[in-house]
Formats: sequence, structure tokens, C-alpha cells
Amino acid sequence: APATEYQAESAVLSQASVATNHAGYTGSGFVDYVNAPGGYIEWSVNVAEAGVHTLTVRYANGTAAARPMDLAVNGVTAAAGVTFPGTGAWSTWADKQVAVTLAAGVNTVRATGTTANGGPNVDRITV
Ligand code: GCU
Ligand code: CA
Repeated sequence: APATEYQAESAVLSQASVATNHAGYTGSGFVDYVNAPGGYIEWSVNVAEAGVHTLTVRYANGTAAARPMDLAVNGVTAAAGVTFPGTGAWSTWADKQVAVTLAAGVNTVRATGTTANGGPNVDRITV
């Protein structure tokens, strides 16, 4: 099936906010996590077919330290400690691909920062 883009700025946010202060995002902005563990972005992702889908997270990390996140699908951790390495600058965006199993129909996909630095800046996911 063709990929669908889900902007971070349109998702449900906790300990994270919409920002526009670094260039190169798609849509109307990106999401900046607070520098603490536990902040999340939660998307409602609709797929026609159940099974393994590639989730592409477009992110930026202008620091040298990776910003790991846990990815949960429908409330259950699907990928723990997914690493989001530095991209060289906050305006340099990279794609991180993660394979997750989704149900047919609407799924919640939540990306939670797990370290004191919080998550990377996130532009969108593509499924
Ligand atoms: C800077 C940067 C933010 C980023 C933050 C961080 O403040 O401008 O976009 O989110 O660092 O370290 O998380
Ligand atoms: Ca941040």
C-alpha cells in the first residue's frame, strides 16, 4: 500500500510541544520533547492490512548523544530503546526505520523518550 505521512505536530503530545525554530521540517512544524524521560508523541495510524509494517520516523538530533525512544503499539511496547543517533545539526533530518506489527484499522503508535535528554526532534512518521 502507498505510504501515508502522519505529522508529529498533529499528534497527541505529552511533555513535548510543537516548534518551528529549525529549518527542514515538513508540514507546519515539528515536535520538541522536553529534556526529561517520559515525554511522548502518539499518532493514530490506519492501515488496511494487519501484519508487519515499516514505520519511518523523520527526526533531527543536533547533539552527539543518541536519544533512544521506546515505540509502543496499542499500549504495548513494540520496540524498546530504538536509537536516534546525532544527525549533525538540529536542521539536518534523518529517517529511522522500525518494523512493527499493526492491526487492521486504527492503531495508536507512541514514541516515548527514555533518557534525561528526552527524545530527538520529530517531524513525522511514514507508514
Ligand atoms: C535545543 C534545540 C531544540 C532541541 C533541544 C534539545 O534547544 O533548539 O530544538 O529540542 O535543544 O536538546 O532537546
Ligand atoms: Ca527537545
